[in-house]
Amino acid sequence: MKVLVVGGGGREHALCWKIAQSPRVKQLHCAPGNAGIAQIAECHGIAATDLDGIVGLAQSRRIDLVVVGPEDPLCLGLVDRLTERGIAAFGPTAAAAAIEGSKAFCKDLLRRHRVPTPGFRTFEDPKYALAYLETLEDYPVVVKASGLAAGKGVTICEHAEQARTVVQDLMKHRKLGEAGATVVLEEFVRGPEVSVLAITDGQAIMPLEPARDHKRLRDGDLGPNTGGMGAVCPVTLPPRMRQQVDQQILLPVVHAMNREGRPFKGVLYAGLMMTAKGPVVLEFNARFGDPETQAVLPRIEDDLLPYLEAAAKGTLEKLEGPRFDRRVSVSVVAASEGYPEKPETGRPIRGLDAASGADGVHIFHAGTKRSGENVVTSGGRVLAVTALGASVEEARTKAYAAMDKIEFVGKQVRRDIALKEV
Ligand code: GLY
Repeated sequence: MKVLVVGGGGREHALCWKIAQSPRVKQLHCAPGNAGIAQIAECHGIAATDLDGIVGLAQSRRIDLVVVGPEDPLCLGLVDRLTERGIAAFGPTAAAAAIEGSKAFCKDLLRRHRVPTPGFRTFEDPKYALAYLETLEDYPVVVKASGLAAGKGVTICEHAEQARTVVQDLMKHRKLGEAGATVVLEEFVRGPEVSVLAITDGQAIMPLEPARDHKRLRDGDLGPNTGGMGAVCPVTLPPRMRQQVDQQILLPVVHAMNREGRPFKGVLYAGLMMTAKGPVVLEFNARFGDPETQAVLPRIEDDLLPYLEAAAKGTLEKLEGPRFDRRVSVSVVAASEGYPEKPETGRPIRGLDAASGADGVHIFHAGTKRSGENVVTSGGRVLAVTALGASVEEARTKAYAAMDKIEFVGKQVRRDIALKEV
């Protein structure tokens, strides 16, 4: 079987690493890939958002399954384009990916179908958004750009003045472009956050074990929001909450998407807050999480490919859920100097060989590329080190020991990934 993975981040490296282990894979391609992926797949210099390029590649290489990693090509309609040409693809259509591409759509959907989510109002005119802020008595309030914003679209505003500034930046000054043309003002809720990634074929769901991202740049959940600085899997949830996630959130949303004429196939990623009243949905994503995937996939003992194929073909209910390694997985991200605002790139990375090779330790590249003899940084998040351990402490110790062998100028690493789980 010939498989093409679309994307070039740590998530796609983890996907390629896992898919490459399938005995059924004869050729593995990736576009555009990165320096780590290039060691296990044939990489093609085609951007994930170049839909013509990706479709042409899939046709010319007679690809049997395309696995789409990032949200942008999904929202642009890559899966629609591949499906029109009879090429099997893992991921939702553009209409279904709107669950991530438009927070306004997602929140309305959740409200219409009575799926638990914090209260909210949506605004398309800054005048009304600002007027609404004047009426609010309770702060913080969460200001969300409705469109895709690569992890930069959500701000927790502690007071009215901050909320006004954020709304003006998004709606009037278009700081995030069209992503901020519509904003959602959302009630702030407290509790631990959990990510549940469920593979679905539009009917059945196969939730993977819960994970936790660490979105802020600095230790202690301080600093700006990022795409994610590390993850841990599993996160222990009380069985009742686990059941609530499946029965009151994931399945109703899969059915709601069908009823609304947007059947969802791929990974439905529920970003949840575990409140005192039960789990509530903060957001849905239409794809595998990054860096959650780097923590979740190394724990899956079975071949992932049959699940991806079954989700694409609508035959998921025939499969048992995958078996998980009992060990804990901790994934720590190294980011470039200046990330997330203005990452510095082109810095040589040393110590990759010394860091790899320990049992249960995996290095997943993200923003890396080859430059002559060197591997150099080429993006905001550079790589992640994932380690499996019998306990969270052991996994953390192994992950940080490997991470400390990797050097590049300006490296930013949080030292407290999974510390709350210890
Ligand atoms: N971990 C956050 C995301 O994948 O969007």
